[in-house]
Amino acid sequence: MRTQVGIVGAGPAGLLLSHLLALRGIESVVVEIRSRDYCEARQRAGVLEDSSVRLLREAGLAGRLDREGLEHGGIYLQFAGERRHIDFRELTGGRTVTVYAQTEVVKDLIAKRVAAGGAVHFEVADTVVDHLDTDRPVLSYASADGARHEVVCDAIAGCDGFHGIGRPAIPADLLTVREREYPYAWLGILADVPPSTDELIYSHHPRGFALHSLRSPTLSRLYLQVDPDESIGNWPDERIWDELQSRFELPGWDLKQGPVLDKGITPMRSFVSAPMRYGRLFLAGDAAHIVPPTGAKGLNLALADVAVLAPALDRLLHGDPALADAYSATCLNRVWRATHFSWWMTTMLHRTPGADPMEAELQLAQLRYVTTSRAAATSLAENYTGFPALAADPGTAD
Ligand code: FAD
Ligand code: PHB
Repeated sequence: MRTQVGIVGAGPAGLLLSHLLALRGIESVVVEIRSRDYCEARQRAGVLEDSSVRLLREAGLAGRLDREGLEHGGIYLQFAGERRHIDFRELTGGRTVTVYAQTEVVKDLIAKRVAAGGAVHFEVADTVVDHLDTDRPVLSYASADGARHEVVCDAIAGCDGFHGIGRPAIPADLLTVREREYPYAWLGILADVPPSTDELIYSHHPRGFALHSLRSPTLSRLYLQVDPDESIGNWPDERIWDELQSRFELPGWDLKQGPVLDKGITPMRSFVSAPMRYGRLFLAGDAAHIVPPTGAKGLNLALADVAVLAPALDRLLHGDPALADAYSATCLNRVWRATHFSWWMTTMLHRTPGADPMEAELQLAQLRYVTTSRAAATSLAENYTGFPALAADPGTAD
């Protein structure tokens, strides 16, 4: 078999790349180990930067996003018994974020690729990428019926997440890896109850961090900081709600409770592997970098990478390697900014197990500063809504 771009992984990065390439008249084959149902149901991120929304809109993918996405003009930071608002619109000249779940982004992308007759193969096994240092790299895999396939490509995109095969296909001595694990994890629930807040609440609390997010006017998404080795079995719904009640407690405000539809524990890690390219293999999204979720950056970075990659591959396939050569450095600039911001939000808001009282005082001093200094609040708002803003026009602009 022959295609122009082989894409490993049908997450947000792989699917959007396939679509952006199709807009440029470039054919691709996407292979995914999981089933379509699994990809469409996997609970993950929920917040899109305004550049991500614009990117999806300009790529013709925002029909449902524009109808169902919830535009938010700020967040709340809660600490020391107070809840303070950070007003993104006012601080950044009108920039916002949109609450629209990753599950919905993925559903929209899959529907679009399938409707366009794009090749998206689910439930494949034993994916291998080879001949990466030639201009005919090969993607091979076993399809759901067990048959083995070889696809000769002009380029391959490793969009296969942190545990994929893309990054390990690069000789280890060519990669520089920077990594930090945090001494805590997030326990997340999806609850069948209207959100108790109009905008997200990030709460610093002596018992640990908590986040109140949402998925729709009728669905809430809430998170609790827990120990990294915590088992979900130790957390019956009642204990989760009790803990959430404690960490969000505010006189005159109530946290509404409802049935828990989904729950799970996510470890927290910062990870950057560079460069994001080896020969004709290009890594995008979680395959190359992971951030802790506190800054809501993971999904946005994945989308931003492929917005850079699509025009770079277009040029490369037409004989001009300049953008492809710049791909890794271009992406890593944004990646490191987001890595710093996510680390900063994370360490400002979480309780470090075993830390001395000095640490909490420093965190509270920083929270008071961010919520009272216009300069500090603007920095948070600028980063949260996305910095640097993405270049527009995914279909035609180079
Ligand atoms: P992924 O979404 O991971 O997609 C990669 C795809 O590749 C997957 O579908 C996988 O099945 C497939 N794949 C893997 N190996 C192979 C193979 N060998 N062959 C074929 N296919 C393969 N970010 C936030 O901002 N907020 C959050 O609350 C949040 N929660 C998260 C919870 C979890 C459990 C995880 C893992 C991540 C979370 N993130 C969150 C991060 C965010 O969801 C990711 O940054 C985003 O999914 C990155 O998209 P991606 O397309 O790069 O990778
Ligand atoms: C989410 O809604 O899942 C979410 C929102 C904001 C974050 C992390 C996760 O910082």
